[in-house]
Amino acid sequence: MTKIEQIITNLNLKPHPEGGYFKETYRSEGEINENSLDSNYIGKRNYSTCIYFLLTSNMFSSFHKIKQDEIWHFYEGSPIRLYTISERGKLSEFIIGRDIANGQSPQLIVPAKHWFAARVINENDYSLVGCTVSPGFDFNDFELAKRKKLISKFPQHKQIIKELTIE
Ligand code: GUN
Repeated sequence: MTKIEQIITNLNLKPHPEGGYFKETYRSEGEINENSLDSNYIGKRNYSTCIYFLLTSNMFSSFHKIKQDEIWHFYEGSPIRLYTISERGKLSEFIIGRDIANGQSPQLIVPAKHWFAARVINENDYSLVGCTVSPGFDFNDFELAKRKKLISKFPQHKQIIKELTIE
């Protein structure tokens, strides 16, 4: 088994629809009622959830968005380059990693409703991170970008959208 296969097996990771592999490690027992959430949510949600998320150099996390902020925590492997596009179309780029002296962040916050995508920086490598959200994750709050639609919304970012979406 390769190191990547070992991590996938030991942490029981499964393919994620956005790309990469994940395993939910925490889902709070506590719940928030629909009437205590903002109007974007339908139904109740757990207070918070957390996942392991693994990306390899030959795949990427495709542009998607969720309704809540997402906190990324770097664990090991290559640093990750993560792109966000705000609702108003501002593109930002961050490096998640441990080399703080060179501008990398061990933690990164992706704001709610921003489109975001990520890839491993090193070749033939992997990145293992954690992703925490509150309210807790629900696939009803998750939207995977359609390439054509996202390019027509943000034509100024055509190149990066083309690279980091599945058709
Ligand atoms: N649970 C399943 N998929 C996801 C995801 O993309 N992010 C978070 N935070 N939790 C998830």
